Amino acid sequence: MNIKLVKDFSKIYDAYVMPKFEGEVHIYDGLNDEERIVLEKLIEKKEFTGKKQTSISCELMHKGKLVNITYIGLGKREKLKAYDVIEGFYKELKNLDGDILVGTHGVEVSQAVEAVHYAKYDFDKYKTEKKEKKESNFDIFVEEETDAICEGTVLAESVMLTRDLVNEPANVIFPESLAHEVKVLGEKYEFEVEIFDEEKITELKMEAFLSVARAAEKRPKFIVMRHLGDPSNPTEIHGLVGKGLTYDTGGLSLKPSAGMSNMKTDMGGAATVIGAMCALSRMKVKKNIVTVVAACENSIGGNAYRPGDIIGSMGGKTIEVDNTDAEGRLTLIDAVHYIINHENVKEVIDVATLTGAVLVALGMSTTGVLANNDEMYKELEKASETAGERVWRLPNFPEYKELYKSKIADLKNTGGRFAGSITAGMFIEEFVGDTPWMHLDIAGTSCADAPYGYYTHGGTGQIVRTLYNYYVKK
Ligand code: BES
Ligand code: MN
Ligand code: ZN
Repeated sequence: MNIKLVKDFSKIYDAYVMPKFEGEVHIYDGLNDEERIVLEKLIEKKEFTGKKQTSISCELMHKGKLVNITYIGLGKREKLKAYDVIEGFYKELKNLDGDILVGTHGVEVSQAVEAVHYAKYDFDKYKTEKKEKKESNFDIFVEEETDAICEGTVLAESVMLTRDLVNEPANVIFPESLAHEVKVLGEKYEFEVEIFDEEKITELKMEAFLSVARAAEKRPKFIVMRHLGDPSNPTEIHGLVGKGLTYDTGGLSLKPSAGMSNMKTDMGGAATVIGAMCALSRMKVKKNIVTVVAACENSIGGNAYRPGDIIGSMGGKTIEVDNTDAEGRLTLIDAVHYIINHENVKEVIDVATLTGAVLVALGMSTTGVLANNDEMYKELEKASETAGERVWRLPNFPEYKELYKSKIADLKNTGGRFAGSITAGMFIEEFVGDTPWMHLDIAGTSCADAPYGYYTHGGTGQIVRTLYNYYVKK
């Protein structure tokens, strides 16, 4: 696939895809009067107004060639959102091959570039017989010089990397191979990577993390990534943490088999923060960002941690294990404690496929958020709106703490059936102290059962773009 910017109409394409806003007419400038009239008549006849989720398409003789012309409706210009642009272009572009001109009149060029990438995304590496794919060339028509193609491509490639990591099965992505992958990415995109093996993890006293990791044949790794883009403010460090369960059987509180196969995606948080790090580093964002992932597999075996066990944690608090399937929060508390106390971050965001309960509360489209800091949440909300990814804040009222009190330890790792996403997030909050913190539960949004919007089945890469916007303050 080829993408480049063009500023003139000299070439003749196989297909033209153009945006149209409601109540505005802008016909492609490259057409002659006759062709223009055909299009105008068609638009009139089909009563195409440019409403969102609509499009109009026709074949036309243009300079001796039969070409396809498509207009995508984007709704009212003043209500335009990134999501609509990407989705609008995506839906048409995924069905087109050959030489294609993409018009960008009134839309952000980088979003059109993203759509082009997503249109050709397909996780088909394990299909021995692949769908035949024609080579496509995309020319993006722009009125003035821009480096949007770079940002659009970097964002799309980061999102697609996250999708790939989520889609890869657990026999391919396990702690060691994930750590290796991150090392390779760090070398390629120039961020620092440090990998802690089990010995070092033990030395750091990450007892909660190690308890979850104990039964698996694949041994845990603790992955640290550092993008130091603002060396003049060495103490201004932002922390990111991703849940990195490369497989979650539920442990001795074993999951029913129907729900288990999808648990190869339980490293969706890790995939998201890795994707975000790649984007931030490649775009040379002037921020210091340290990211950690406690990567392990929640498995079963004679040495597995048990429901009823009382375990310690790096932060010192003791935890009664009520359910070994509530493992994510146990790995995250050690990761969060480490990043605050050993990487000296000034704020921390954790991203995790943490609870089925967030699906019950918010469905598949919306990421659930907990925060101990209103300013931080406001910034996230803004970033998510620019990105076109939905977030919604859940409360962390103190009365919920009663739900995860233990009779014999400081805390227990479950809070019962009610408010499951809230108690899971607040359990992590117990380990952040006064540090500004946010928790993003992406159990519903990181992976799609079926295609929707511009997402394919499987990993969606949601939240990568929101995190990017959050740090570049978009
Ligand atoms: N990884 C799961 C959460 C999950 C569920 C992710 C569905 C993606 C889709 C997590 O480790 C888990 O098992 N959570 C339990 C917690 C419960 C035992 C308190 C859950 O949500 O049922
Ligand atoms: Mn679990
Ligand atoms: Zn899990």
